[in-house]
Amino acid sequence: MFDFRPAPDCPKPEAYRQLREAADSLTAGEPDGVANMANVAALLWDFLPDLNWAGFYRMVDGELVLGPFMGRPACIRIPLGKGVCGVAAKDAASQLVKDVHAFPGHIACDSDTNSELVIPVVRNGAVIAVIDLDSPQKARFDEEDLRGIEELANIIAERI
Ligand code: SME
Repeated sequence: MFDFRPAPDCPKPEAYRQLREAADSLTAGEPDGVANMANVAALLWDFLPDLNWAGFYRMVDGELVLGPFMGRPACIRIPLGKGVCGVAAKDAASQLVKDVHAFPGHIACDSDTNSELVIPVVRNGAVIAVIDLDSPQKARFDEEDLRGIEELANIIAERI
């Protein structure tokens, strides 16, 4: 049995440290990228409160294609430059969106979503995937979340 969840009152930087440690130990030595993305999506879901979606879009033939996730069924293909995920992938730049309704071109997969954090996963200088986190809360994510997920993306970049 795996139970990596942090204590409910755990400060955010410590929770992200534990999340990275759990992701590292779950993916180390496992060559199957789908299995590793699935476990990381499950960890994100377990570790981070107030999410309605957590998972991956993968870069496949120049567009983003849905990968392992937790949450409701989602859009399958996202062109580069479209929506929050497509902009993150095209620009290789994290997107911290406090209010998705104010983001031009936001793709509403779930009408419950109000804020979003998208972090590119970069390997050998190329974006190979994005990590997408959605929340029904406005301004759910901050700079600590952004840094925590960017560091996670660095750890898993060679393993997905
Ligand atoms: N809202 C995203 C699309 C993906 S879903 O949220 C899972 C976007 O605008 O890119």
